[in-house]
Order: sequence, then structure tokens, then C-alpha cells
Amino acid sequence: MDKTIRPIERLCGEVSLPGDKSISHRVVFIGSISRGKTTGKNFLRAEDCLNTVSAFKAMGIDIEADKKRVTIMGKGLNGLEKPEEELYLGNSGTTMRILPGILAGQDFEAILTGDESLSKRPMDRIIAPLQKMGVGICSKSIEGFPPLVIKGGKVTPLDCSINVASAQVKSCVLFAGLYADGVTSVTEPFLSRDHTERMLASCGAKISRKGFTVSIEGKPSLRGMEFFVPGDISSAAFLIAGAAILEGSDITIKEVGLNPTRLGFLNALLGMGADIRVHNRKETVEPYGDIRLRYARLKSVVVEKKDVPLLIDEIPVLAVVASTVEGRTVIKGCSELRVKETDRIFALTENLRRIGAEIRTEGEDIIIEGKRGRFNNAILKSYTDHRTAMSMAIASLYADGDCRIEDVDCVNTSFPEFFEMLDHLKK
Ligand code: S3P
Repeated sequence: MDKTIRPIERLCGEVSLPGDKSISHRVVFIGSISRGKTTGKNFLRAEDCLNTVSAFKAMGIDIEADKKRVTIMGKGLNGLEKPEEELYLGNSGTTMRILPGILAGQDFEAILTGDESLSKRPMDRIIAPLQKMGVGICSKSIEGFPPLVIKGGKVTPLDCSINVASAQVKSCVLFAGLYADGVTSVTEPFLSRDHTERMLASCGAKISRKGFTVSIEGKPSLRGMEFFVPGDISSAAFLIAGAAILEGSDITIKEVGLNPTRLGFLNALLGMGADIRVHNRKETVEPYGDIRLRYARLKSVVVEKKDVPLLIDEIPVLAVVASTVEGRTVIKGCSELRVKETDRIFALTENLRRIGAEIRTEGEDIIIEGKRGRFNNAILKSYTDHRTAMSMAIASLYADGDCRIEDVDCVNTSFPEFFEMLDHLKK
């Protein structure tokens, strides 16, 4: 489906968002291998997370995902059953990269497949450490893309360094480490999101961090938990970005996740001079609170490479914001964007140029020469990537005429209510 977006004056009002995608996946991963009942309130019922649910159901786990809650009857670390068919994971890179860590400890063979985009994403980054842990895992393609074939069983502990800061790779190794006799450690070049560590610890795993190294003790007894899944800060980012560029905006987003490893986008906006306040902050396994943004005139910013993992999914929409403010914004060390749901650097460059923005790359860096004033209207493309589609929808609100975005069904991957919520805030 294509979508025509009309420019608007401002965004105003209050919304609550569906649950965080990363946390929702992990509720299902961890709940399925814990003993007893796990619940996730405000679970995200979007395609990616529902693909994780289907995979665990196909391995004999009783899961109910109704409107706002998921309930999982976990069977312990080794309680999964061999699926009768291949496990189809749709577009979900998080499932494709983390699930093998759990399958590492199961005494059966499973095959993981995905959609066209997922079938072009690199998996060697999880295949290599798992093979070192003695797991039988291989890709069915020469390039190391899915499908993956995994034959689990005995897992040996590992002390490894990974060369990209990736929560998916780190989590995969940590989950595999649950099945090893001894301690498994992963060292990242920079800190990535730490939901796996927090959530596993809350269920009884022994996990510690020293600098960028996380260690986990194998063979714990995990018990079911009641999780609250805060609103997704990565989804909130689109609405916040819209309010940040439209003069006179004033929006509040209730109960959004405020995990420090996810705050890169808010910090970048603060660095640009945004008026952002946090109210009703609560500390649970995952901190959360209400975010209010009132329009303020912004300036350009430099994002350092070490901070990129903290806003990796928000770079496309940050680039939209940066295009509307006077001056040069530099986002350093962005090469991971090339291997997301699409090549997001290509998608951004193509789309932003169509609406008259000035963007280029220098090595791994993205450079935006921002200028004030509305974008040109144009036909934009999602490249079947949810975050590209939503970033372009936000840019379109600030165009000088109607824009059409081709193929927006992909927003269902992470934020099915996106257009509805945007309509609710449009003034
Ligand atoms: C995720 C980690 C990030 C992020 C993705 C979700 C996760 O990927 O881009 O949307 O839930 O662990 P990388 O680990 O590849 O950086």
C-alpha cells in the first residue's frame, strides 16, 4: 500500500505507545526457557514479535498473546521440542540472530528462514562464536545469509570479542552461555542495548559487567517473571522528531522506556537544543517515564561513533531532523546501517535528496548540510523497511506539498499503530 501524507502545522497532545520491540522479543525468549509463568504487560503485537511467538509455539511452548499482554508457560532451559517444520521468522533480524543462542542448547536440529530482506542479512557474526562454542550451525548460503541450520546439544563456554557493537550478537552468545558449564564472556567495542542482561538477571541468571565485557554463568535455574514492557523509545523517536521540526508542537509520550543504552536519540536532540523533559520516572527492570517535547529552535550536532549503538535505529529520523536545521550535522561510524532491514544509508540518501536535502557519506560517516525551510514534495520509497517508511512520513509532514510514500505496509513490523497515532497528534 502507498500512503499520501499532507504537510501539517504542528503535533500536539498525549499518547501511550505499544511496547518496546527488543524487550517484547526477550520476554518471549526468556519466558520460554524459564520455569513457570512469565507475563509481559504492554507486549508489542507487531509482526516481528509475533514471529518470535510463533517460533516458540512451534517448539511446544504454550503462549497467549492477547491485546496488551503476553503469557508464556515456560518449560525450563531444555524444554523446547523439535519443530515439525522450518521456523519462518519473517523480517525479524532479532529473532534470527538471538534464537540460535537458545537452540544451541537444545538436542535437536532446526532450520530458520526469513523473508527476502532477512535472507540478505549477515549471520556470520553469530555463526562464528556459536561454532567456537561447539554448536553445529551453518548457513545454507555461500554469503552466510539465512536460512540457518542449527543442531544443538553440548555447549562449551567462550570468552570472545566481537568487532561490532551488537546487542543481537551479544545476546546470542549470552543465551548460548546459559547452556555451558562455566562462565561465558562477550566483549564489545562499545556498549550496546543491555535488555538481555537486565531481564536474564531478574529471572535468576548470574550476570556481571566490567567495562564493555559481560559475563554469564552457565546452567542457572531461571524462574518466570512479570515484566512491564515500556513504550518503544525507537517508535517514540518518530513522533518526537516530528514535534522537534514543527514549530509550535508540544507532545507528551507516556511510559516510554528510558534505558540508558537506548537514549542516544534523546541525547542528540538535547545536544541540538531541544526542550525535552522527563516526568513520572519509574525504576523497574527497565526504567521508564513520560517524555514531553516542546518545540524549540535546533542547531546541528556531531554524533560520535561510540554513541551510535545507543541510537542505531533512530539514525534515519535523526537525519531528517538534522536536514531542517542550519549547519552541518555529522553522524560518525554508521556502517552498520548498510546491513539493516535495507541499506539504510542508500535509502536515506535517495529519499532525502528527492525532497531537496543535502546528505552525503564520507567513509563510515553521514554528513548532512542542514538548512531551514520546508522540504520539497516528492514520491518517496520505503524500500520495504519500516524505519525508512516512518522517517519519510515524518519528513513529509514538513514538506511544501503532499508526498507519497510507496509501500508502507512494512510499518507493521514494529509499529502498526503509527499512522493512527500520527493522526491523533496532528494539529
Ligand atoms: C536489537 C539490536 C539492534 C537493533 C535492532 C534490535 C535487539 O541490532 O538495530 O533493531 O533487539 O537486540 P544490532 O544488534 O544488529 O545492532
